[in-house]
Amino acid sequence: MDFTAQLNAHVARVERGLAKLVPAATTRPARLHSAMRYSLEAGGKRLRPVLVLAAADLFASAPLRSAGKKSALRSPHSAIPTAIAAAIAVECVHTYSLIHDDLPCMDNDDLRRGRPTAHKQFDEATALLAGDALLTHAFALLAENYAAQPALATALVRELADAAGSRRLIGGQMEDLLAEKKSDATPAELEFIHLNKTAAMIEAALVMGGLVGGASVRHLSTLRAAGRHLGLAFQINDDILDATADTATLGKTAGKDAKAGKTTFVKLHGLASARRRVGKESAAAIAAFKKLPGDSAFLIALTEQMQSRKR
Ligand code: IPE
Ligand code: IPE
Ligand code: MG
Ligand code: MG
Ligand code: MG
Repeated sequence: MDFTAQLNAHVARVERGLAKLVPAATTRPARLHSAMRYSLEAGGKRLRPVLVLAAADLFASAPLRSAGKKSALRSPHSAIPTAIAAAIAVECVHTYSLIHDDLPCMDNDDLRRGRPTAHKQFDEATALLAGDALLTHAFALLAENYAAQPALATALVRELADAAGSRRLIGGQMEDLLAEKKSDATPAELEFIHLNKTAAMIEAALVMGGLVGGASVRHLSTLRAAGRHLGLAFQINDDILDATADTATLGKTAGKDAKAGKTTFVKLHGLASARRRVGKESAAAIAAFKKLPGDSAFLIALTEQMQSRKR
């Protein structure tokens, strides 16, 4: 299968998983569940859940598993559990973070994934609650779907909780807001923001896929390193696109970072330097993927695609 066919197959699996693993819009209270599904179903690239599925696939082939690489969690003969619930949990946390990121008290955005933001389509309270509910649902999915492998369930919950917690995603969001309109923000502060508000979840997606697939401790740390580089490249690109792309292509309002006085790579280092850094971080992610067992061609091609993405 070529890269595009493989990507389409992963995305289709994610869409089917979302349909199945999130309460129907008609579930009471329908307004809340409609809002959760409205934001989830608006589309999006599904990068993080695809990373979960692709990382799990890397370790799924039998010859590798018998090549003496000990899984961090499982016995070599146990069946490989499905990665889809972990993938959907990650997409639920990501979508919650976008709903809250767009609220008037945060980035105050009207457009997301090509549609009015959740608080515009519904109202602020409903958007806030839909975000809360998606975050909580993510952990319920992990507890329910990996109950037969308690060590795996615990490791997945811990990984996602760390990535989404106050030291990482939420901490990054806090510093992003604190750095708004700040004239003396430093490159180190900017790095903290990007590594945490964005790279944390991309790291977690790869590590969670590795955990489900039965990766060794060493391979989990390689996945984490790859995610850190890919995540940094991804957010620097997000800054570049905000400054250079148009709203219709992005599906979110372009030019908002400069207007809000955000501390971005473009603001601190300029466009050319930001582009060079995307190249450097993408190359580092690819080098890490090459150290993994199995066929990492898909993850390498995905990193390349993300490097030149238009949205
Ligand atoms: C947007 O993430 C928020 C950032 C961390 C930059 P994506 O660009 O992955 O958004 P979707 O999921 O495709 O909508
Ligand atoms: C968002 O960063 C990161 C999270 C949602 C955690 P941005 O604020 O740059 O994302 P966009 O540009 O609104 O998608
Ligand atoms: Mg933001
Ligand atoms: Mg934003
Ligand atoms: Mg942005």
